[in-house]
Amino acid sequence: MKILMVCLGNICRSPLAEGILQHKAFKAGLNWSVESAGTNGYHTGEAPHHLSIKVAKMNGIDISMHRSRKFTEADFEQYDIIYAMAADVLEDMRRIAKNKFDGQKAILILNEIYPGQNKDVPDPWYGPEAGYHDVFALIEKACDKIVSSQ
Ligand code: 4NP
Repeated sequence: MKILMVCLGNICRSPLAEGILQHKAFKAGLNWSVESAGTNGYHTGEAPHHLSIKVAKMNGIDISMHRSRKFTEADFEQYDIIYAMAADVLEDMRRIAKNKFDGQKAILILNEIYPGQNKDVPDPWYGPEAGYHDVFALIEKACDKIVSSQ
């Protein structure tokens, strides 16, 4: 199974989501490939935000080697499930993918734990370290659900 995690910049939330789900899937013996991308492309080629790297490391996950890339319409052909971190991201995905957009594959990640509530993983960019810990905890809860539903 190939899973893509998507946020705006692909430097704060989705690299964390990629690292967390890949780590949990591997520990559960699932042969999943988890990657991530961003809809705005402003940070293409950059490493994750230093606070995402720090918070992941505090939880035993190394995301430092990730490099930001832009989400493309072809991602709907490459992945089985595409998780958006927030509603604005989902709208960007719809705009970018146009007729390739597949509503069966595109899921708001927090709907895994709060079904039908369309909640966002808050954008920690510009904020203090605490925001990155909150984001980690939310994404971790969703990833636990994703792995345990297999
Ligand atoms: P992310 O956070 O979407 O969680 O990676 C952001 C990072 C950068 C920007 C927006 C959100 N930006 O506009 O540059």
